[in-house]
Amino acid sequence: DRLEAVRGALISWFVEHGRDLPWRYTRDPYHVLVSEVMLQQIQVTRAVPFYLAFLERFPTVEALAGAPIAEAIRVWGDLGRYRRVVNLHRTARLVVEEHGGEIPPDPEVLATFPGIGPYTAGAVACFAFERDVPFVDTNMRRVLHRLFFGPEVPDARAKDREILSVAAELVPRGRGWEWNQALMELGALRCTARRPLCDECPVADGCRARGDILEALSASPRAA
Ligand code: ADE
Repeated sequence: DRLEAVRGALISWFVEHGRDLPWRYTRDPYHVLVSEVMLQQIQVTRAVPFYLAFLERFPTVEALAGAPIAEAIRVWGDLGRYRRVVNLHRTARLVVEEHGGEIPPDPEVLATFPGIGPYTAGAVACFAFERDVPFVDTNMRRVLHRLFFGPEVPDARAKDREILSVAAELVPRGRGWEWNQALMELGALRCTARRPLCDECPVADGCRARGDILEALSASPRAA
């Protein structure tokens, strides 16, 4: 069926075209958490050196929890948005003090930590613990909207519930890790906000937005 075709085509594309990124080689929950917090604010290519430097200085959740907050902020450095690292540091201390140093795998529990919202909770559960859970960030939301609902309209968030339910239906059992990485990668490399490359898209067949998409984008004030 359609969902199975989309899953297969997108995962195959990801296996062939996905970028070689350091956090894709780890299942360490703390490393995944650091990557996801960083990636909420900067581009993937810029994040790589910050991610490596931060983990070199604080390789474990205990190392981060044991450091003074000023030191964590200093190592975070030019990334800015210091509330993120303050929350990350508080989370590290809570993990050590209240969870025996183990980051919990359950997205509902993860979402109780400071600075961890539904997206980050789902991403850690999926990318570290390989749980087949749905979650969406801005890019994934855009991709799913285009694929299943058509070109985005200015109030695309109105469709949030439908998009989350499509996201949940799509996650293939046993392949949630690849699937969610692939969805992100498509949003980054093909189904971009301003210049979607439909001609090189692995799931253009049956995409609700294809055809309309460039026209719709050029007519939308947000595309300017
Ligand atoms: N943005 C957020 N999480 C990401 C990931 N795991 N890979 C690439 N880009 C991302």
